[in-house]
Amino acid sequence: MHTVLALETSCDESAAAVVRHKADGSVEVLASQIASQVEEHALWGGVVPEIASRRHVEALPTLVQAVLRESALSIPELNAVAATVAPGLAGALMVASVTGRTLAALHQVPFLGIHHLEGHLASAALGEHAPAPPYLVLLVSGGHTELIRVGLHGEMERLGRSHDDAAGEAFDKVARLLGLGYPGGPAIQAIAASGNAKRFSLPKGRISLRGGGFHPYDFSFSGLKTAMLRTVESCQGSGVDLPMADLAASFEQVVADVLVERALRCANDHKIKQLVMVGGVAANQRLRLLMQKQGQQHGVAVSIAPLAYCTDNAAMIGAAALSRLKRGVLSSSDETGVAARWPLERADALYEALPPF
Ligand code: KG4
Ligand code: ZN
Repeated sequence: MHTVLALETSCDESAAAVVRHKADGSVEVLASQIASQVEEHALWGGVVPEIASRRHVEALPTLVQAVLRESALSIPELNAVAATVAPGLAGALMVASVTGRTLAALHQVPFLGIHHLEGHLASAALGEHAPAPPYLVLLVSGGHTELIRVGLHGEMERLGRSHDDAAGEAFDKVARLLGLGYPGGPAIQAIAASGNAKRFSLPKGRISLRGGGFHPYDFSFSGLKTAMLRTVESCQGSGVDLPMADLAASFEQVVADVLVERALRCANDHKIKQLVMVGGVAANQRLRLLMQKQGQQHGVAVSIAPLAYCTDNAAMIGAAALSRLKRGVLSSSDETGVAARWPLERADALYEALPPF
């Protein structure tokens, strides 16, 4: 049974966790801690990379000590130390990567450099019942909106994606437009709770195919953002107070509708009976409820990452490392750095003797 220490600093959350495989294939979180920098970045309306790196340097040693204490384990007792090495803010990624490599080298345990999105995908294993492949994943975060088919042996194929903003980015931009705080998702969710989601009719952005028609599983959120701007302007033009709750609820509803419709259509067309939803936007309550309900109606079993592990955390990075260990990947190179951009399809290359970055 493998146990790993995992570190995550790819964006604005510093996180450490100790996780272990359970006999049924699911993952037990022995300790998981997150130091969020959200309040500081909120002052600037978004993540400031330089501030993020500095705060990670300050927070990570304390977090590592805390999770080791809480799990009553020391590093030599572990099978590996893992850290996110790609993609993300380069300076921020460096903090967990260098810390992880140094701890691994000092205590002579293997180091595993993890792809951040592979971590999000693995977060579904942190629930009560870990889904077993094959399944379709809807990954909805601040940087990605993708539909990925995971085959029996863990092989991945992307079947859908956003052509412009990610769903989380749309939440953040619309929140800014409405004068709500950063990050936008939780702020919109809070205010939308008392709103009328049917008040404004908003577009479900679609991507045209060259030969005519629309791509069935791809997304576009930039038109929706513009439609929100026009709606706000027209309310302002008529001199009424902005109906904030109705605007937020209508926006949240159309995003949830479009994500659920296209994900279930993709599952249905490909005869996939299981859908897994992960990433920061998967924390959205309206989306969670709609996906469960519609999944049931379409005969698709829906598993959603536990709320605590939708947004960035280190337990999901640990879960991805456990899955790699189980598949026989013993370590990555100690000699390489981090990559700000790295496609998920090339995650295997992170375990080559000298990954090409
Ligand atoms: O997965 P994540 O923590 O970071 C990335 O890897 O991108 O996702 C962050 C994104 C942000 O855009 C945030 O606004 C969104 O997830 N988010 C939400 C909610 N909580 C976080 N979006 C909608 N509803 C939420 N409750
Ligand atoms: Zn993330």
